[in-house]
Amino acid sequence: MIKTYGCQMNERDSESISWILSNLGFVETDDMIESDIVIFNTCAVRQNAENKLLGNLGDLKHLMEANNLKKIIMVCGCVMEIDSSREFLEEKFKHVDIIFGTNSIAILEDLLEEHLSTKKQVINIDQINLKTREKIGQNRRYNFKSYVNIMYGCDNFCTYCIVPYTRGREVSREAKDIIAEIKHLVDGGVKEVTLLGQNVNSYGKTLDPKILFTDLIYKIADIDGLERIRFMTSHPKDISKELIYAFDEIDKLMPFLHIPVQSGSNRILKLMNRKYTREDYLEKIELIKSLKRDIALSTDIIVGFPDESDRDFEDTIDLVKTVGYDQAFTFIYSIRPGTLAAKMENQIPDDIKNARLQKLIEVQNDISLEKNKMYLGKTLNVLVEGKSQKDENFYSGRSEEFKLVNFKANEEDIGNIIKVIINDVKSFSMNGEKVED
Ligand code: SAH
Ligand code: SF4
Ligand code: F3S
Repeated sequence: MIKTYGCQMNERDSESISWILSNLGFVETDDMIESDIVIFNTCAVRQNAENKLLGNLGDLKHLMEANNLKKIIMVCGCVMEIDSSREFLEEKFKHVDIIFGTNSIAILEDLLEEHLSTKKQVINIDQINLKTREKIGQNRRYNFKSYVNIMYGCDNFCTYCIVPYTRGREVSREAKDIIAEIKHLVDGGVKEVTLLGQNVNSYGKTLDPKILFTDLIYKIADIDGLERIRFMTSHPKDISKELIYAFDEIDKLMPFLHIPVQSGSNRILKLMNRKYTREDYLEKIELIKSLKRDIALSTDIIVGFPDESDRDFEDTIDLVKTVGYDQAFTFIYSIRPGTLAAKMENQIPDDIKNARLQKLIEVQNDISLEKNKMYLGKTLNVLVEGKSQKDENFYSGRSEEFKLVNFKANEEDIGNIIKVIINDVKSFSMNGEKVED
């Protein structure tokens, strides 16, 4: 059983872990009691993500004691790359058998073998080279869509962020390996790929000869049978004009862009080491809005970064209104040990952070609803993903604009792109009716 927290990187990593273990004869389950191995793939991006691990390990220990169960317990992912957190686990949770890092998944078989022969706690957080990593396959969660790593790591060191410490230095995969992987996925029925990297716009910098992200997209778009291309995450400082124009050139490139701004205040952006100003950012948004196609926009925003004043926060609210995002992922700043912002003065009290978050959410929810209302009566192309999580009688899927759409359909529609006419909208989702061909 694999429990995955955090971002798409971790979800994709869990598919590799599942592949390695299934080659050894294991079968993935979601039944904790029945499982022989339990793996926690952890996230460290905010303190509350990190806290989940300790609760889960405690619960598992009780479950095992109460039912007299024996299991191999593994903990991996970003939290294990933070020395203090890993050392705490080694000390206090002796019942964890194998601890490994984000870059040592490729040698999991060796780690398991070592544990089975020594019966000791095995720990490995080495950086395993890219060549070894290329040999690892994936057990796909869906057979019609897939994440595809195009690069690993991050070199940006935004001052609030732990990711450069947990994922290591930025390194790009060879374009030919990425293309071979996508061709293989498409042969297996995949219609949509999402290209993954912490900063996809800087793809190719570590390659010789260098290749630009936009050129990679053009190559991928040539793959027959592939219908939809998405990517994330884009760092605003590196988004090129060529990439923006590609939305008008490549039909397969879905009209949706996640472009995290983090703050609308130049002073805070500077303290965050984001390397763009509010004006630079808005200029890129203007260019996107001038395209022939309408591109849906989403963003990430942090409130309560150290020294954020009411005025800075108002700048963020103002930017959110100016851009008019379809969706925003909003976070309360969380101190991450070892980052520069953790040591900054004027950390913001919790009550102010909470109040700012509430205000931001209210503003954004209204904008999201207004944006969604524009879809009423329109027919969208939706890739059907499965039964709706909220209502058994409905299926759900994503439109080209990445809108979550619910509708009545059949089991056979899963994995197909169907037409849905929208008749009701909320802030986060919309309902519609399948249009029969
Ligand atoms: N590479 C991506 C995002 C990685 S983390 C990017 O650059 O956009 C996802 C989001 O978590 C970030 O965009 C940021 O908004 C949020 N985040 C990261 N560190 C955080 C922290 N210490 N506290 C609160 N939110 C944080
Ligand atoms: Fe973190 Fe910044 Fe890298 Fe994104 S670009 S992962 S926010 S350091
Ligand atoms: Fe979390 Fe690591 Fe992703 S910290 S957000 S799982 S890169």
